Amino acid sequence: MTASATSSGAQLRSDGTLRHLLTLEGLPRAALERLLDAAQALRTDALNGIALRARLAGRAVCALFLEPSTRTRSAFHLAAARLGADVLNFDLSHSSAGKGETTLDTLRNLEAMGVDCFVVRAGEDGAVAALAAQAGANTVLINAGDGRHQHPTQGLLDMLTLRQSKGVDFSKLTVLIVGDVRHSRVARSDIAALRTLGCGEIRVCAPQSLLPDTNELHGCDVGHDLDAMLEGVDAVMMLRLQRERMEEGLVPSLEGYFREYGLDAARLSRAKPDAVVLHPGPINRGVEISDEVADGPQSLILAQVSNGVAVRMAVMLELLRA
Ligand code: CP
Repeated sequence: MTASATSSGAQLRSDGTLRHLLTLEGLPRAALERLLDAAQALRTDALNGIALRARLAGRAVCALFLEPSTRTRSAFHLAAARLGADVLNFDLSHSSAGKGETTLDTLRNLEAMGVDCFVVRAGEDGAVAALAAQAGANTVLINAGDGRHQHPTQGLLDMLTLRQSKGVDFSKLTVLIVGDVRHSRVARSDIAALRTLGCGEIRVCAPQSLLPDTNELHGCDVGHDLDAMLEGVDAVMMLRLQRERMEEGLVPSLEGYFREYGLDAARLSRAKPDAVVLHPGPINRGVEISDEVADGPQSLILAQVSNGVAVRMAVMLELLRA
């Protein structure tokens, strides 16, 4: 991981409000809870039919996605539109990036047109922080996923989903994260947020080949036996196998992976009876999770997606109202 990928200080002003949202690592508990509370309130406002469109009227948000996305990009678009911002859905494949224009020059040109906020997804760890360091004084950057490093709004929406189901006190919760932790920016953001919120026990289960080489899982209970690690958990957070970031041979076969690390109903019965199941999507059905679990009564997967809009509204409001 690059040094810039880990710099959490760049995202906070001296008064504790957000300047950018780049990472959940090091984000103070007060800031994290403020965003979760705001997202919950926005959900309630939306359900009560309260008009939100004046809140970001006159501001302009650009989604600059250098990697594919369905949930994150669409949720940011909807969130910005519901708050009344102008939304520029930048189409990289038809842009001058194809003529060699750099991402920084692209950003500077869009800034010159009056874009206030860039939602950026990039393949390299630290790429969004690097752009933030060079952006204009009034431009805000939101990391929509950078390499294996962080996916802060996914971490926030996962915490909001857990809070809605299990309450705000995480100290008695046991949360199990399963799968491709090595390549997962979602896992890194979730673990950072769970630690900050005082989660009682964080378990991580994966084959050795899909665990990070570094000691970044310090404080987590790490193991390889999914059946054993499921015993008594309150929540299971499944991860997608990131085959696009994987060298060959890390997983012997998809069938073998499901046999050892896939979540089906029989396995899930080892968790607490009221345990909930999360997955950031996209799901590889039959690889990480069975249909009966993904679509079953303990699944919060679509609640996560729904919360994603509220969380992105809360983040943009905090960043753009300053
Ligand atoms: N969870 C998530 O980031 O999904 P997308 O890649 O579809 O945005």
